[in-house]
Amino acid sequence: MIDIHSHLLPGVDDGSAEMEESLAMARSAARQGIRKVIATPHHNNGRYVNPAAEVRRAVAELGDRLRQEGIPLDVLPGQEIRLTGRLLEDWDAGQLLTLADTPYILLEMMPDFEISHLAEAIHELKVRGLIPVIAHPERHPELARRPEWFGELVELGALGQVTSHSLLGRFGHMIRRAAFRMCREGTIHLVATDAHDLLRRGFDLKEAYELIRKEFGLSYAELLEGNAEALLRSETVQAAIQTRRWRKAWFF
Ligand SMILES: [Fe+2]
Repeated sequence: MIDIHSHLLPGVDDGSAEMEESLAMARSAARQGIRKVIATPHHNNGRYVNPAAEVRRAVAELGDRLRQEGIPLDVLPGQEIRLTGRLLEDWDAGQLLTLADTPYILLEMMPDFEISHLAEAIHELKVRGLIPVIAHPERHPELARRPEWFGELVELGALGQVTSHSLLGRFGHMIRRAAFRMCREGTIHLVATDAHDLLRRGFDLKEAYELIRKEFGLSYAELLEGNAEALLRSETVQAAIQTRRWRKAWFF
């Protein structure tokens, strides 16, 4: 398995606090069958700043330790970038990283986003050859209440990444319901852990894929798993399935 969103790097944000914790998290990821993980520390979210060069340095250091410890996990560089007005300026200045040096870039939405602003940002990113992946739309306060709105962003060219914890109900009923609905409406293309620590917000990708198989079927689970692999190879991520049929059939 591949995990495209994690806070595995030690001491850079609200994820792993120190190297020992990162190693314990990495062991836990490897145990459940995760072979590659993209480290995506928060960047420009108002609290943490982790520019590209620093993330690359930290990824190389953690990678060395994993090899020394014999932990079979590859760590790749990335960022979870808050979608602010300075995004394009920062990209042009070389401060930003895509996911594992692919065209895919992981973005976190501001709580008070406006779809028109996002539409413009998505367009500008596409002009630069980038493909925006929206991190956990189901956890966004507006979208948790109105999951169908996320479809507008997907139609503009954004991809959706649902968080395993959301599907598993660990952020509460409302977020779980939004996550399920987005999966059913075909606006989710990727699943990732967004792991922050060993236990409370750990690596639970295997459990999430099991739930997806059970709730949405084997083909959807395979599509999501295949999409994470395609992303890492810089190939096209497949459009999600089950759209209109579910839209009509699904009531809350
Ligand atoms: Fe995150």
